[in-house]
Amino acid sequence: MTSRVLAGDDTGQGEVLLCIHGFPLNRTLWRHQVRELSKTHRVLAPDLRGRGASPLQAGEAAAWSLDDLTDDLVATLDAKGIERVNVMGLSMGGYVAFAFLRRYASRVRSLTLVNTKADADTADGKTGRTDTAHRILTHGMAPLADGMIPKLLASRATPELHEWVRAMFLSTPPETAAADALAMRDRPDSTPDLAAIAVPTLVIHGEHDVLMPPAGAHAMAHHIPNARFVVIPGAGHLSPLEQPEAVNAVLGLFMLHCNAGHSV
Ligand code: MLT
Repeated sequence: MTSRVLAGDDTGQGEVLLCIHGFPLNRTLWRHQVRELSKTHRVLAPDLRGRGASPLQAGEAAAWSLDDLTDDLVATLDAKGIERVNVMGLSMGGYVAFAFLRRYASRVRSLTLVNTKADADTADGKTGRTDTAHRILTHGMAPLADGMIPKLLASRATPELHEWVRAMFLSTPPETAAADALAMRDRPDSTPDLAAIAVPTLVIHGEHDVLMPPAGAHAMAHHIPNARFVVIPGAGHLSPLEQPEAVNAVLGLFMLHCNAGHSV
């Protein structure tokens, strides 16, 4: 598949933090991190292909793998003349971060895994993804939003936050969300890669994530040499949106630590 340059946020100066959003969301998942971290770093938060500022182009098929999404990110970095980055991904974005590390290890300065996991889907999970893709294409995004959002946000999330997340769902074209679901279905198991991760790694997870309970992330962090594991109190699956101050504080310290001594 031909990779393409993605559009999105690119603000600030200094070492680059690349923020990869989850399914079926867009770059505004990271709005609080873009605002805060761009005071000290250059923050890139692109929309993955097929949504937001990176809509499908004429004749472009809505079918891809997570490797294709990774190649788009690298094409975007190449277009900006950026070589090494601090890679951060949430959930599906974490799966893409693992693909990034597999394919472009020399370009990764550090890794931040937010509310994600390393393992592949089970056989039942894969069947579920196929069904999800079919349902999205048949019924659109609203039923997906109705079913998923209560599992994404912790109980203390405000009505405004629910609305924000719902708007992200509804702005994603069904064919894009379906392609993401199938790409996630076909992703490899990244667990065997964990022990070989050689860059500084931060694992952030919401205390009340019911989609991916924190114990799984804790175990994942345990398998990554010297990874830091931080639970974000009061957050569900979308901790960067739900508890931005706590996430920004942890991330800001990690970024300073990882990039100390590196020139711009
Ligand atoms: C996400 O939040 O990106 C997805 O829900 C992840 C998944 O379904 O595995």
